[in-house]
Amino acid sequence: MGHNPASPVIRVVIASLMASGLGACGQSKAAGPDNFDGDAHRGAKLIAHYQCGSCHEIPGIAGADGNVGPPLRRVGTRTYIAGFIQNSPDNMAYWIEDPQRMLPGNAMPGMGIPQNDARDIAAFLYTLN
Ligand code: HEC
Repeated sequence: MGHNPASPVIRVVIASLMASGLGACGQSKAAGPDNFDGDAHRGAKLIAHYQCGSCHEIPGIAGADGNVGPPLRRVGTRTYIAGFIQNSPDNMAYWIEDPQRMLPGNAMPGMGIPQNDARDIAAFLYTLN
């Protein structure tokens, strides 16, 4: 890979391998936001701004009662994102940044959200335990 930064997809694979190395499948909670740099307070405002609630029911976000995608209640402790991707704060941020790169063909559209906003949104979603 030379000195090119690893692509997000490769990072996801690495993260999954690391997560599986920690054992205790299904028993442990999904990795928490400790050591994660997202700002949950800002993330809540961004969720309203990007109107995630037009497609998702999201606890704590006024008017977020959409039913196109799954409700995000307890998404912070869910094992998989979209049934395929190991749930972790980093993977959640990559999902929000570009769900079509993470899982091509799934029904959630890419919204052009920068990684830095995606990390704040992920931090908020991790408060939904
Ligand atoms: C146009 C509708 C739409 C919008 C807007 C949308 N999503 Fe989604 N989202 C979906 C659909 C559909 C899925 C289900 C994808 C799948 O499981 O294959 C999904 C899945 C997800 C998941 C995984 C949930 C799970 O249970 O695995 C998360 C987290 C998520 N969306 C967060 C967001 C956030 C945050 C935003 C705003 C930045 C957003 N979504 C905007 C439609 C949308």
